[in-house]
Amino acid sequence: MWRNWIPFWRPGVSSYAGDVDLLFAGLLTASIAIAVLLTALLLVFAIRYRVGSPADRDHRIRRSWRWEIAWTSAALIGFLGLFVWGAVLYLGIYGEPHDPLPIYVVAKQWMWKVQHPGGQREINELHVPVGRSIRLVMASQDVIHSFFVPAFRAKHDVVPGRYQTFWFRAEREGTFELLCAEFCGTDHSRMRGRVVVMQPAEYERWLAGQDVGGTLASEGAVLFRELGCSGCHSPQSTVHAPLLDGVYGKPVPLQDGSVVIADEAYIRDSILLPRSRVAAGYPPVMPSFAGRVSEDDLVRLVAYIKALAEK
Ligand code: CUA
Repeated sequence: MWRNWIPFWRPGVSSYAGDVDLLFAGLLTASIAIAVLLTALLLVFAIRYRVGSPADRDHRIRRSWRWEIAWTSAALIGFLGLFVWGAVLYLGIYGEPHDPLPIYVVAKQWMWKVQHPGGQREINELHVPVGRSIRLVMASQDVIHSFFVPAFRAKHDVVPGRYQTFWFRAEREGTFELLCAEFCGTDHSRMRGRVVVMQPAEYERWLAGQDVGGTLASEGAVLFRELGCSGCHSPQSTVHAPLLDGVYGKPVPLQDGSVVIADEAYIRDSILLPRSRVAAGYPPVMPSFAGRVSEDDLVRLVAYIKALAEK
């Protein structure tokens, strides 16, 4: 591979890393071309019209728009082309992958907490199978962090107060550095971990070898009762509250006439800010659970409501 011949260059190892590298090379080439052109012109004029040079300075001003228009439109088209290239790549990276494996990440000062749907938990480590799209659902418990795996060319901010989803697919086994790429306080530089990419069979063995209380969804079901959610959101309830079976991933009509898809972010908002987007046909009577459920518990509740849709 030609890229292995460039010193200090380590090709990326995720599905979109090659495209990101190519865009980087394109930007670098454009920047070098412009820098060389401008420096060369600068030198030529500086030498030619230096003090005491016999160069002819008696130019008559000729009106010619040809150079002006050619140069301006070439630069415009060239740089707009880079923009379109980057935008297309961005939409691919920040879109939704096909049949992903969901993994929950909670960032806090100063660590990465990872929860797998089966209930496996790890800190500053993320084990994933090779060749499978991983969809990260990320939340921050305090300030803005940024999930960054340089080898995957994957970076996404983790902002408090909302879920961010992000995906990648590792194409090679190995251990890769995980960094926080947003200054988040004293120990920001130590907020790092590693991503371990394994063969699927090995990954299954790793999952089975972890100490697990229950799946995220089963822990969520316990919380759902403990917090009293089941008191209203059940068929027997006298309170007129929406039933949540099968709601995940479906469109929900809202009181203001708009429609949202019930994704993780919507479920989270409905728990913490229940009056912000009220489902049509229901009175806005639900109390907010902000401050009563931690990010870790929110992940469990969301996993439970997702599991209701999969039954
Ligand atoms: Cu978290 Cu920097």
